[in-house]
Amino acid sequence: MKIRPLQKKDIKICSEIVGKNYNNKYQRLSALELRDMFGTSQFKPLYYVAEEKGKILGFAGVMQSPMDYSVWHIFWVNVLPTEQKKGIGKKLVSKVIEVVKKKKDAHLILLTALIPEYYKQHFSFKTIDKIDDSYDLMSLAIK
Ligand SMILES: CC(C)(COP(=O)(O)OP(=O)(O)OC[C@H]1O[C@@H](n2cnc3c(N)ncnc32)[C@H](O)[C@@H]1OP(=O)(O)O)[C@@H](O)C(=O)NCCC(=O)NCCS
Repeated sequence: MKIRPLQKKDIKICSEIVGKNYNNKYQRLSALELRDMFGTSQFKPLYYVAEEKGKILGFAGVMQSPMDYSVWHIFWVNVLPTEQKKGIGKKLVSKVIEVVKKKKDAHLILLTALIPEYYKQHFSFKTIDKIDDSYDLMSLAIK
């Protein structure tokens, strides 16, 4: 399995993974967000896909924040339901952390309702706040 940057041709299949994990509304919205990688904004998201034998099994996004250039957000970590719990999510998150590590003195931020323990145990993210008692706002400092 390889992790590589998203290409335009992958947008449909990646948004379909979101549709399978969530619903049609998020499928549609994620397709719009994925397209932003090929736009002209200064704050373009970067997406990476996990691919095996030509099949996309998951993807994850990371983007520099306009709040501060040292802050980077991780979002849309999504693995095909049939391929979950095989280590693909870990490989994708490791990839986006590796990309941001090259920037030095950066802070990674993410919001998760379901799996704060996952980010804590495997990547040392810390919860810095709770939102609506259901979301963990988490960060990881990179030196
Ligand atoms: C969450 C997700 C990205 C993890 O990717 P994955 O490839 O399935 O996970 P990995 O195989 O890398 O890691 C497995 C670990 O994650 C945990 N995990 C996976 N999905 C989980 C879930 N929904 N709830 C709690 N733990 C979960 C497993 O228990 C396992 O823990 P362990 O390593 O301590 O045994 C994937 O399950 C997914 O796409 N879920 C639906 C979308 C989603 O919730 N995205 C996260 C938004 S923050």
